[in-house]
Amino acid sequence: MEIVEKCIEQGIFLHPDAKQKLEEQEDPSQLIDKILKEYNFENPVLLPKHIEQYTTKNPGKPKQEKKVESITPKKPRKPEKKETTKKEPEDEPEPVETQNGGIEVVLDVTGRSECEGELKNFYNYFNDRYEKIKKEITKRNGMRNARPVEAVKRGKEDVSVVGIVNEVRGTQNGHKLILLEDMTGEIPTLALKNRDVYSKSEEVLLDEVIGVRGALSDGSDLLMLDDIVWPDLPLSGGKPQSKGDGYIAFISDVHFGSTTFLEDAWNRFVNWLNGEYGGPEHQELVKNIKYLCIAGDLVEGIGIYPGQKEELKTVSITEQYREAARQLKRLPSHINIIISPGNHDAVRQAEPQPAFDEEIQEVFVGEMDNITFVGNPSTIKIAGVEILVYHGRSLDDLIAELPKRSYEKPAEVMSEYVKRRHLAPIYGKKTPLAPENKDYHYVDKPDIIHCGHVHKFGVDQYKGVNLFNTGTWQRQTKFQKKKGIKPDPGRVVLYSLENHEPKIVKFCN
Ligand SMILES: [Fe+2]
Repeated sequence: MEIVEKCIEQGIFLHPDAKQKLEEQEDPSQLIDKILKEYNFENPVLLPKHIEQYTTKNPGKPKQEKKVESITPKKPRKPEKKETTKKEPEDEPEPVETQNGGIEVVLDVTGRSECEGELKNFYNYFNDRYEKIKKEITKRNGMRNARPVEAVKRGKEDVSVVGIVNEVRGTQNGHKLILLEDMTGEIPTLALKNRDVYSKSEEVLLDEVIGVRGALSDGSDLLMLDDIVWPDLPLSGGKPQSKGDGYIAFISDVHFGSTTFLEDAWNRFVNWLNGEYGGPEHQELVKNIKYLCIAGDLVEGIGIYPGQKEELKTVSITEQYREAARQLKRLPSHINIIISPGNHDAVRQAEPQPAFDEEIQEVFVGEMDNITFVGNPSTIKIAGVEILVYHGRSLDDLIAELPKRSYEKPAEVMSEYVKRRHLAPIYGKKTPLAPENKDYHYVDKPDIIHCGHVHKFGVDQYKGVNLFNTGTWQRQTKFQKKKGIKPDPGRVVLYSLENHEPKIVKFCN
């Protein structure tokens, strides 16, 4: 094992000069074993002075070239810097499309996918993610003078830097190591267990972009952290200024085609929308529902989880969509419907997912002309209110990685999207991502984020952003039972375009 690896294994960082001193000795490997055995571990950086206590006057090996230490990331995520890349011009305005009922589609990958699975796509994707989030982080206190990694390494004073998290892990002696990278290089940073910054370090996620402040340890490349900064939104900017009228209804995870689809609850919802369920007060209310937004998993799909076939009422995917079209046709025709896909729908699994392809759309178009199909995620605008629709697959990853988050409070988990300004901070794991040249998961300043996926219902607000997770229309499946997931079915969020307040309507206990 290399001497550097031996140090890393013990949670110790070898200063480049100390490494050089070691390599000048007859048996560096044996010597480092001896040093580590006797080292007190109070200083996480092994300096030349620590080596000198053990060294002989006559080195056995010629002096070697000084090298900068680096820790290899677990998996390659970006190409070599020499790769030629095509970068989108910054802040290039997206063409805005206006659809049924004045729905503006602000951002959507549909018809714009450029992902060819090449290394340059990965480079462009991470570059776009980095630049967008860095721009926000450098607006925060203490981060305005953030410098590139290579410039930081040459500095002596307190420094700030913005980077992508290449590795995050606890060291053997209880500190937290965060390896940060930008386009100029890589730098190890350390949150000491007895410092305030340590609790923040426990929330750092792999692959996300963060800012850090700290000081280099004794002139080494290790940055001892004082603070960690997320891009977050500043304090609430208040409600949207626009004044529209009527309501948007939000639902998700309908799962047409499944034997566990809750037909009775769905029928109550359809009847309610038609003014045939609920008292006169409800009849007046539903007249003003102008939009219905569906955040993915419109149908059950096929081959999604083991044993799913036994729970399929309709085994043909096209038939499942025909059933969906028949059901949506029962809704009042003045309601404009927005449909975004989820992981059960028949589109590519890697996000950003485009809207349903033409073949599926035709199933609906033959029945009605009040549907706007968008991708996942998508940003739409209705009467001046910006809505980020995202199915929410990355909620699984956030809940798995952040101990304070749970399936019981899905809307609270969604606040992480705002704090990190990203819908899928961790690259990979349960959320497959296609590296587009542009990062479609960046979170700008929406008024509403609408998700589903976890089949748990929740409404919350964070920094002025309304967070809706609209549950499901499916009762517990065998798979969910095994996983201990108890769904919250048959719930709708109604959002007033006039006073910008949400209401919850329940069609199932
Ligand atoms: Fe679902």
